Amino acid sequence: MNNKTVVITGASSGLGKATALAFARQGWQIAVADINQERGDEAVEEIKALGSQAFFHYCNVAKSEDIQALHDRCLEEWTQIDVLINNAGIVSALGAIDRVPMVEWQRAMDINLMGVVRGCSIFARTFKEQGAGHIVNIASIAGLITIPGMGSYSASKAAVVSVSEMLRAELKHKNIGVTVVCPSLFRTNLSESLMNAKEGQQEVIDQQMEKSSMTAEDIAEKIVSAVKANQFMLLPHKTSWFHWGVKRLSPSLYQWLITRR
Ligand SMILES: NC(=O)c1ccc[n+]([C@@H]2O[C@H](COP(=O)([O-])OP(=O)(O)OC[C@H]3O[C@@H](n4cnc5c(N)ncnc54)[C@H](O)[C@@H]3O)[C@@H](O)[C@H]2O)c1
Repeated sequence: MNNKTVVITGASSGLGKATALAFARQGWQIAVADINQERGDEAVEEIKALGSQAFFHYCNVAKSEDIQALHDRCLEEWTQIDVLINNAGIVSALGAIDRVPMVEWQRAMDINLMGVVRGCSIFARTFKEQGAGHIVNIASIAGLITIPGMGSYSASKAAVVSVSEMLRAELKHKNIGVTVVCPSLFRTNLSESLMNAKEGQQEVIDQQMEKSSMTAEDIAEKIVSAVKANQFMLLPHKTSWFHWGVKRLSPSLYQWLITRR
């Protein structure tokens, strides 16, 4: 056991849970924050079975008061907070710009973007007072390269990359590290969050996830290493470096690739 602490939003499932277990294997204490209590309680039991300490805290990242309460609970349980992982996210409705209802854009922005912003805003104050801390924001490769038909999700994740870049500059001299994670698809329960899906869309996402070369556990191990090394950009899938590289080195080739049919 060590006395290091990490709070992870969306830690009841998928990448959040895998990351919680990866930190637990290193002896860290974990706050599992999520809207899914049943899965959260299971995650806490799995962490405790590894010999680490953990607690579940109900937190809807769409509500500032929930994140404030999560922050306050962490300071009641622990003497300091070492790492915040803004992981909670959803996949919003897929489709062309004139087909996706505004309410779906709002949902993507409120959870995927503003959930991260709320977490950074509330925990950064404590990190500054402590004189140390680390923020990990889970974005997506969809935040770096455009995927047609995924406008609301891509835009929310692109904004998370932007906020993370801003934070890195703003917090570097306060001894607060920042990591932004941009994975491609991997198998989780993410498609359950798809609302107003057309028939078959959820199955298509699940099938694409099944093809992934990486698991949530693989990515979680890389997140632990990135925090220890204070690495800013984490692209867990090797193919993502190629796609992102093409966009930066040859914008015209990138445009051709994303517009071809
Ligand atoms: N799975 C992928 O292919 C993939 C790829 C790139 C990025 N991501 C990102 O990884 C992160 C984790 O997703 P995942 O794939 O593990 O999915 P998941 O659905 O398995 O886990 C997401 C968790 O977030 C929780 N959550 C949803 N809305 C919430 C809210 N308002 N407040 C608090 N918790 C909430 C869910 O209950 C769930 O436990 C997300 O930000 C997602 O966008 C996933």
